[in-house]
Amino acid sequence: MDTDIDRLIVFDTTLRDGEQAPGCSMTDREKVRVARALAELGVDVIEAGFPAASDGDFESVRLVARTVRGPIICGLARCGGKDIERAWQALQEAERARLHVFIATSPIHRQFKLGLSRDEVLRRAVEGVRAARALCADVEFSAEDAARTEPEYLADVIAAVIDAGATTVNIPDTVGYAVPAEFAERIAYLRENVSGIERAVISVHCHDDLGMAVANSLAAVQAGARQVECTINGIGERAGNCALEEVVMAVRTRADRMPVRTGIDTRRLAATSRLVAAVTGVAVPRNKAVVGENAFAHEAGIHQHGMLRNQETYEIMRPEDVGLGGSRLVLGKHSGRHAFRSRVEALGLALDEAELDRAFIAFKTLADRKKEIFDADIEALVLRSDETGHGPWSLAALRIRSGDGARAFAEVELQHVEGTARRESASGDGPVEAAFRAIERATGIEAELKSFDIRNVTVGEDAQGEAVVTIAQGGRIWQGKGFDTDIIQASALAFLQAVNRICARQGADAAA
Ligand code: KIV
Ligand code: ZN
Repeated sequence: MDTDIDRLIVFDTTLRDGEQAPGCSMTDREKVRVARALAELGVDVIEAGFPAASDGDFESVRLVARTVRGPIICGLARCGGKDIERAWQALQEAERARLHVFIATSPIHRQFKLGLSRDEVLRRAVEGVRAARALCADVEFSAEDAARTEPEYLADVIAAVIDAGATTVNIPDTVGYAVPAEFAERIAYLRENVSGIERAVISVHCHDDLGMAVANSLAAVQAGARQVECTINGIGERAGNCALEEVVMAVRTRADRMPVRTGIDTRRLAATSRLVAAVTGVAVPRNKAVVGENAFAHEAGIHQHGMLRNQETYEIMRPEDVGLGGSRLVLGKHSGRHAFRSRVEALGLALDEAELDRAFIAFKTLADRKKEIFDADIEALVLRSDETGHGPWSLAALRIRSGDGARAFAEVELQHVEGTARRESASGDGPVEAAFRAIERATGIEAELKSFDIRNVTVGEDAQGEAVVTIAQGGRIWQGKGFDTDIIQASALAFLQAVNRICARQGADAAA
């Protein structure tokens, strides 16, 4: 390995900025699963959450800090108040911890959000960093909305926080306003005008409002930034954040332009992307760069002809480099627990014994109904058995009557973790609507259906269907996914998962 090449630190904020996005909320168990996958992927820093935001956020950061080894675990905190102490408490059991403090520096945020003068913002930034440094040796400071902050003032703030002990200084384009050349100039300006800048790592955190988060991050790397903040699949506030898989593959593919290396095992990118899509219910578009289903598909005859002669005619990366080796037949009806476990591990789905038991039972049931079991089937059933494993509701039975022009009718039997069972029925324009209505009646949760999609997970007549449901309830958006060879069953499971998320949140709010 060339030791002259700088290391680019990959800071993943899927669990914090990503989870903040509408419809992307995750349960604690899902957060731990994603954090473990991020550790396997090789990210350097996992931003696990914003502990002062709620008791639920505090607990999930604590759980990730306790259970995930390898990357630095980071907690976000505002400068001032009790945020910093709270974040530090949540990080106590981390192998290596980072405190990330922030305050907005742009004129519009100073005036309308904070109502503070320049001097006061600078003073609070310094106090925040000092307070964090008194607790933790690894302190990151973010100047929120840095891209719209006066350059000279930003330079003063960054110099002051480095003096106060910040080890990483983050320059966010919070509203996705910058264009690449301008953002690169901003980084170059700070490198030239901040005394002591060599004592800190320069980081960037770009949002995608104009579709330039990755381009801006790469421009910043070319100008000397050595940490990029990103999320899997680019999920995040509004239009999202810089997509981890894109920025990592860009620096790898264009090392001639960006002489940096990351610690990412790129062969795990596709599986991690699928995991995040599954737990959030936010599907990856087919044409998404790097991990989309069509990213390596060649339809035009002329392209196929070129590919057959030399893959590099139309491919700048190989599908196997990102873990998209195609659908592989891996297991069947006669495969045992040992083979199943090793396949699950190879897919990066770290399961404990109880989870493995549940998933293996689900695998055997599926293998009875489906001849060929592909990797995508295994991922689907692991996530499905995971979801039903932490309720509160699970689907015990679903009976449908439809056809012959009559209204569809559904009867559901739901089992609650506390032992109660409920049976309800409803009619609808079709079997899916009838099933949703019956679940609403049984759980007492009424929601507005926002979207409903169904697609096949793998190929063949007996392929599993994957249903994704988005519903609105209590002013929030909730998503659920369900998998089954029967698409009505998959739809009911997806709806129930979204309802379960509402119940889990109601339970957490009631406990707080
Ligand atoms: O977008 C932003 O500015 C942020 C900061 C808190 C880093 O998310
Ligand atoms: Zn952000």
